Amino acid sequence: MNEMTDETSGAAGSPSSSGRSAGAQDSRFAASMAYFERAARVIPGGIYGSKSPGFLVPGHFPYYLSRARGSRIYDADGNEFIDYLCGYGSQIVGYGNPAVDGPALEQARKGDLLNQPHPAMVELAERLVGLVDGMDWAVFVKNGTDATTLATSIARADTGKQVIIAAEGAYHGAANWCSTNVFPVFLQAEQRDVRFFPYNDVQALEALFEAERGNIACLILTPYHHPTYKPQQLPTPEFTAAVERLCRAEGAYFIVDDIRANFRLDMHGSHKFFSVHPDLITMGKALANGYPISVLLGTDGLRKTASSFFITGTYWMSAVPMIAALATLDEMERMGGTARLAELGRVLKDGLESLGLEAGFRARVSGPPAIPYLTFDEDPDLYLNQRFCAAMADRGVFMHPHHNWFISLAHSEEDIARTLEAARSAFAELSSSLATERP
Ligand SMILES: Cc1ncc(COP(=O)(O)O)c(C=O)c1O
Repeated sequence: MNEMTDETSGAAGSPSSSGRSAGAQDSRFAASMAYFERAARVIPGGIYGSKSPGFLVPGHFPYYLSRARGSRIYDADGNEFIDYLCGYGSQIVGYGNPAVDGPALEQARKGDLLNQPHPAMVELAERLVGLVDGMDWAVFVKNGTDATTLATSIARADTGKQVIIAAEGAYHGAANWCSTNVFPVFLQAEQRDVRFFPYNDVQALEALFEAERGNIACLILTPYHHPTYKPQQLPTPEFTAAVERLCRAEGAYFIVDDIRANFRLDMHGSHKFFSVHPDLITMGKALANGYPISVLLGTDGLRKTASSFFITGTYWMSAVPMIAALATLDEMERMGGTARLAELGRVLKDGLESLGLEAGFRARVSGPPAIPYLTFDEDPDLYLNQRFCAAMADRGVFMHPHHNWFISLAHSEEDIARTLEAARSAFAELSSSLATERP
């Protein structure tokens, strides 16, 4: 599925090419820069949110991407990268996968956004309820934020309680109740009833449940902790046991926000992987390989409350993403599913850690192998991360310095081998430039 094109052959994207000077970087991204200058005049900030240039390493990453295929992305200047961001996790069977795009585009020709739902909505709900462990119903929305907001609202309505508990640094979307990226003073009203605790800290969680006893509507957690800028953390068995015990005792609902990890750990949901039993689950991103759809799944006890909600959005029932989701589920299984993702991720993780050590770095890959993230020990401001990821981008590998990475089923053994070849040279460059920087 991976392809090289005329546009890219022998170009800067080759993983074997070496680091570049600042001037060469600029010309490598001339088209990106020109678009950015135009954007700055008509779009606040030019590019906003998590896609803004400062979130990557300016000068080393493209600002605009034009197309993608399999595991490769191509920027506005035609540079090619092996991609480990996968559309922020949404690409699981590869960009432009014909098994997904074929039926999706066929439906697009027949009609996408219709007045009433397409029958595929029923098929998809049945499929997910059959597949995702412990869930009895499904409602479809567009963004992950829609799903997490609806989940917490349903929990509040059902319990008649207001307080939402979440882990410090967890991302559940860009709505005001959960956004951690906006100066909080503006959000005081919206976040008044949201309480945070340090992930995996049983004592802190117990203390919070005690302090808020009688007020807690729900606890929302990602299946494991993937905070931005930090190593990822898996839940301890003591923590997951405490979560379930405390929620039960309080009569609070337990929500697993599986938007980011879904279907990369377990086809029955990441909660199955970690043996937990949520009342509500949100999924999105990989659900339809990049077509815009997310889902809230729930248990029977919440069905009545969910059906009393006015759940709607102009685009929420468009047919194409539902057809794409059904095809993506089939294609994931056909391409090897979670076992294959874990196997590829393991090779990448082991390779990066040992190449780091060989070059004198204590670089660790945290999180499940299918959703890896590399950080350096004693690198609190992520300076080494940024340098390493910039050097990888110079070599045609797109690894985000501040956000976890994703393996897709379109990555091949050859992609991983080329990535590790690039990493050997990136670690060496980092090591020698640090040596010259030292006084
Ligand atoms: C765990 C988690 N929840 C919710 C969201 C929000 O999803 P969306 O960006 O589709 O609104 C994200 C997005 O990154 C996420 O990772």
